[in-house]
Amino acid sequence: MAGLKKLIAGNWKMNMLHTDGAALARDIVGGAENIGCDLLLCPPSTLLSWIAETASGSPVFVGAQDCHEAESGAFTGDISAAMVRDAGASYVILGHSERRHGLGETDSRVQAKVSAAHGAGLVAIVCIGETEAERDAGETLDVLSAQLDGSLPADNTGAAIDGTNTVIAYEPVWAIGTGRTPTLEEVAQAHAHIRGHLESLLGEAASGIRILYGGSMKPENAGDLLATANVDGGLIGGASLSADSFLAIAKAATV
Ligand code: PGA
Repeated sequence: MAGLKKLIAGNWKMNMLHTDGAALARDIVGGAENIGCDLLLCPPSTLLSWIAETASGSPVFVGAQDCHEAESGAFTGDISAAMVRDAGASYVILGHSERRHGLGETDSRVQAKVSAAHGAGLVAIVCIGETEAERDAGETLDVLSAQLDGSLPADNTGAAIDGTNTVIAYEPVWAIGTGRTPTLEEVAQAHAHIRGHLESLLGEAASGIRILYGGSMKPENAGDLLATANVDGGLIGGASLSADSFLAIAKAATV
């Protein structure tokens, strides 16, 4: 929707040790000055505090790639939303397809995580997207509706959902890391559908929620994707691992 400040988010996934990650964050922070969109770096959790320190005082936000839905307890290997916040982050990616499809994360699990994130004062980036088989079967829009219904907390159980605490990322599973993208018409259709479905769930608050596109976004295609109606930014995997390409995408979001 016109008027929303775009958000360009880098999902570093399971990449970067301290030295390289700190250098990448420094280069991005250094190049962020004349960028007119919001920038977000989502490093692995081992680097969260380092990157948050590097970004502190800059316009660059920091986020985690996941969190557990419980406040604390016997969950070996997991981190809570409060821990993410404590590390200096303000965003968390939830329901990424590599967790939904790789680790069997369900809509209801994602929903619980979104509630936990909101409870800790984090902005939740809720990822949804169809598989290739679902697209081929003509089920894309139904899948997106069902994932929104199942992954967003019912609005009377916690913080009201709006653009201050929630971002949606549309990521076709078959476009992630493959170099393939939907056509601009398909992106426009999916994003308009998501906006409409959010309106049916949330009413007016839907117009303030940013809807990112993710899946093989690079400097070469970012301008067109980001100029598409209802595309309010990007969730970038591979191309976020280089400051040059990440900042080039951010510049494409600024025009
Ligand atoms: P990609 O990943 O840009 O490497 O396709 C996007 C994502 O998984 O968020």
